[in-house]
This record gives sequence, structure tokens and C-alpha cells, in this order.
Amino acid sequence: MNNLPDAGKKSAAQEAARLVEDGMTLGIGTGSTARHFIDELTKKIAAGFSLYGVPTSDETEALANAAGVEIIVPDDDTIIDLAVDGADEVDPRLNLIKGGGGALLREKIVANAAKKFVVIADASKRVASLGAFPLPIEIEAFARALTLRDIRETIDSLGFRPHRSALRERNGELFKSDGGNLIVDYAMGAIADPAPLEARLREIPGVIECGLFCGMTDIVIFGDGEETSIQTA
Ligand code: A5P
Repeated sequence: MNNLPDAGKKSAAQEAARLVEDGMTLGIGTGSTARHFIDELTKKIAAGFSLYGVPTSDETEALANAAGVEIIVPDDDTIIDLAVDGADEVDPRLNLIKGGGGALLREKIVANAAKKFVVIADASKRVASLGAFPLPIEIEAFARALTLRDIRETIDSLGFRPHRSALRERNGELFKSDGGNLIVDYAMGAIADPAPLEARLREIPGVIECGLFCGMTDIVIFGDGEETSIQTA
């Protein structure tokens, strides 16, 4: 078994943990790389830090809570000092595809609100252009056939051909996000210019959010085995 991707995830998470200061409110991502970051938070708390967290999924909430992070429900005064999360793909301009774990909506809300958004990823997530990883799009279940048709026509009109999609399933049933929504995964090939696609998809009424994160990332920390490299926006 090749353990390199996991080693890269861990080293990226360790590097990101160096940005964490006592008393910070953190946005805490979801997925296997974010889990390594939560492990680092456990160590910080053992060393005496007080940390507050806005988790991006129910799973992360349970893990962060067990790590000793004080979970907060944001209010009007909440400032998220730093959000740290994984990604499925990162392009040279630090645009992302996220949502492989199905938490893209909460992840985008938290990343958008954070003063600094740091992505941690093993080096295999670095791509020349987004799109080899099918794009997750979170949709409302009501009248989903109409929303899926609208998405298909939008993607077609932007010149992506061929494309194919599948509603995400888990254990033989439709996958539901923590918010109770469906996810359609869209394979459409290379996405050379992701921002217009993100904007167009978000205009469709039944689309709740899409997994393109354009222009949001401040720093990406790539881990390659025990080596890390940092790319800033
Ligand atoms: C969760 O919905 C995703 O956005 C994850 O951040 C992304 O899929 C990366 O996951 P891994 O860290 O498990 O590779």
C-alpha cells in the first residue's frame, strides 16, 4: 500500500497548525486531511491552548469536540480567525474543487467568512486545470429532475462536451448532505476558467452550492511525504 498521500496530508496539517494561536476561533474542515489537522489541535490543547471552532460537518464537530475544541454556533459578532480545510483539486491560481466528502456548502460558508482560508492537501491534489475530479453540486431534492436538466443545459451551453453526471449514492441510497440535500457529481473534463462556471451554476434556483471555490484561498500548503511547500494567492 502506498502511504505517501497520507504522509503528505499529515505534513500539510502539521504545517498549518503552526498558524494556530492560543484563543483563536477556527473554521475546521472536513475529510481525511482535516482529520490530521484536528489531531494537531488535540496537541495544541494539551499544551494549554484554548481553541474555539466552527466545524464544517457533523463528523468534524464530533472530532473537534473530542479534541477539546470549544464548538461555537456563530453569531453576529463571530470572527473566524483562520479556516483550514482540504481540497480535491487545486489549480495554479488556487481555485479549488471541493465536496468529495459532501460538506461543500458548510465548507464554503466557513471559508468565505474566515479572515484567512488555508487549504491543506497532499501534492497529488495539485493540477494544471480543474476537472479530472467530478465537480460536486449540491441541489435541493424537490423537483430535482428540473434542476438537473437546468444544470445539464447550462454546462452544455458553456461548451463542456461530453459530460456526464450521477447523483451521489451511499449504501445503495441517495447521499444526503448534513443539510439534507442531494449531491450530483459532474464529470465534464478540464475546466480552464472555473469562475464563470461557478457563477452560472449558482444562478440556477435548485442549486444550493457548487464545489468550485474560486478566488477564496489565501494559502495552500502541499504535503509531499514529509516535505511541505506553500503557495500563496
Ligand atoms: C469535504 O466535503 C471535501 O471538500 C474535502 O475537503 C475534500 O474532499 C478533501 O478530502 P480529503 O482531505 O479526504 O482528501
